Amino acid sequence: SNLQLRHVEGVVTVAAPPHAKGVTLGEPLSSDDALDPHHLRLVVPSHQFSQNALIPSPDKYLEMYKRSIEDPAGFWSDIASQFFWKQPWNAYSVFSENLDVRNGPVHIQWFKGGSTNISYNCLDRIVESGYGDKIALFWEANDPGVGATSLTYNQLLSRVCQLANYLKHIGVKKGDAVVVYLPMLMELPITMLACARIGAVHSVVFAGFSAESLAQRIVDCKPKVVITCNAVKRGSKTIHLKDIVDGALLQSAQNGDVVPKYPTHCEVEWVDAEDPLFLLYTSGSTGKPKGVLHTTGGYMVYTATTFKYAFDYKPTDIYWCTADCGWITGHSYVTYGPLLNGASVIIYEGAPNYPDSGRCWDIVDKYKYVTRYSRESLRILGSVGEPINPSAWRWFYNVVGDSRCPISDTWWQTETGGFMITPLPGAWPQKPGSATFPFFGVQPVIVDEKGVELEGECSGYLCVKNSWPGAFRTLYGDHERYETTYFKPFPGYYFTGDGCSRDKDGYHWLTGRVDDVINVSGHRIGTAEVESALVSHPKCAEAAVVGVEHEVKGQAIYAFVTLVEGVPYSEELRKSLVLTVREQIGAFAAPDRIHWAPGLPKTRSGKIMRRILRKIASRQLNELGDTSTLADPSIVDQLIALADS
Ligand code: PRX
Repeated sequence: SNLQLRHVEGVVTVAAPPHAKGVTLGEPLSSDDALDPHHLRLVVPSHQFSQNALIPSPDKYLEMYKRSIEDPAGFWSDIASQFFWKQPWNAYSVFSENLDVRNGPVHIQWFKGGSTNISYNCLDRIVESGYGDKIALFWEANDPGVGATSLTYNQLLSRVCQLANYLKHIGVKKGDAVVVYLPMLMELPITMLACARIGAVHSVVFAGFSAESLAQRIVDCKPKVVITCNAVKRGSKTIHLKDIVDGALLQSAQNGDVVPKYPTHCEVEWVDAEDPLFLLYTSGSTGKPKGVLHTTGGYMVYTATTFKYAFDYKPTDIYWCTADCGWITGHSYVTYGPLLNGASVIIYEGAPNYPDSGRCWDIVDKYKYVTRYSRESLRILGSVGEPINPSAWRWFYNVVGDSRCPISDTWWQTETGGFMITPLPGAWPQKPGSATFPFFGVQPVIVDEKGVELEGECSGYLCVKNSWPGAFRTLYGDHERYETTYFKPFPGYYFTGDGCSRDKDGYHWLTGRVDDVINVSGHRIGTAEVESALVSHPKCAEAAVVGVEHEVKGQAIYAFVTLVEGVPYSEELRKSLVLTVREQIGAFAAPDRIHWAPGLPKTRSGKIMRRILRKIASRQLNELGDTSTLADPSIVDQLIALADS
């Protein structure tokens, strides 16, 4: 099963590379495997694994992929018809798109004219097909052995209806925004599904965000209500969320346990396939977070399908995604994707290392009822959010998966709605650290800085040609920024903001962001957001933030700050600068390092040379490049001298 996938006229073809050598699932990777990317071992699915997989071979993938590219309307219509639609979509124009700004406004529509409801498809449809007593959600509390509970599909439907009725009662209508500021309680997916049921647009704000970040999002999307809870336990700490919300709202939200009084039946609001489902704010390269807008029909079809194939879903599986619903992964792969497949999903309230670092494996074993930490039940492992380096891959494969489980290293973004480049575990050999090949319907291209598509083995900017059903449709209230950020850099394509290389076998390797966005432990943070938090400190005059490599977190935040004239730098001031970022954005965005700077390296036109700052931050002092064009080249030496002080 060694193969080569090559892009030929936008379609992938297969050939066997003579050099390929592999280990088969079941065999461990030795420590010298996987370290040199040019001599990587392939990890080949075993015959038994492939035989039972939904996509059992490269040929099957290619057959489906080819159809998805050559006949997207037919391919996606066949899948979409497995869901419930109150009205069918327009069969003559299943989708319409313009991704080329030169041809007018960018627009993407899928299944236009169809009306449906994603909450109905996640719940009522599953109940009606006889699975009402199947567990939909298992909830595992922060403290082991305390309060674990579960809901069947029937029970989940009732809970969703009660909340939906309550929301209607307090005046929430179709199209209204609802901000959800909740931790990983079952109430979080319940709220999302209740909003979707009545056609309201949810905007979940990760519960680690501060009052100011929450306020910023409330101001932008103007919700009718904000839904929160009093407090959450995370590790040994109790976090008082309601106090944070009160800090963000002028008036305090309504108190009290009112929802259970409401009826457990609630009629569905049928919505157009292109009606908005949710807004999710994400970081970009300017200070203001972007409200990524996803609509209903295409997102539903895409998340369900990617979930099914990337995890080779079997109805007997118990599925756990450790992501928080405050991020896109929790939307697409805790809530919608799995429930649309009728899966049983684990939701975990707490931190992965509480009470100790065995907690994840404890949960894994608990829900398969086997002896402590055997992890025997694991079938497939998933990963998302940042490149996995080969040695982490090897640990995940050898230790966590006992060399038995394929790893779906899924590359995608808040904007893409669902997986874009991902292994299909039974189909082809994996290379540790590579997200492998495109999902059905996705045409990734790698372009050079002029926007010219590169062929074969290459490296450049990752773009996508043509739309896919799960694509975001706009940035809320700012279609112009949507076009400028994503479609103008390389006209004709969707620009991802990521660098990527493709190897001789056609595998894709993501190399990280090429814009001013940094990725700290999978949290996407705009350098400009951290900078504006820092400069809001009364003693900070100017700030420049860069990402530096970090062994555990992927990247860490490194901030250069200049102070208001006459203010001395001190340990106390450092702490107060870090605190400002924690308060304005959240603890996850706190800089690891504050580097006091008497001045910043700027061009004569006043532009900060971040390239140089990145080199200083990572102590690559031989690679500073030409500094002679700076307005004041001596700044660089001063910064180097202060680097370790
Ligand atoms: O840089 C890529 C990285 O995460 C970015 C998207 O972040 P966000 O919108 O927060 O979504 C995270 C969950 C989808 C991408 O632009 N990224 C995501 N997945 C991978 C990745 N980098 C490498 N490998 C991945 N599998």
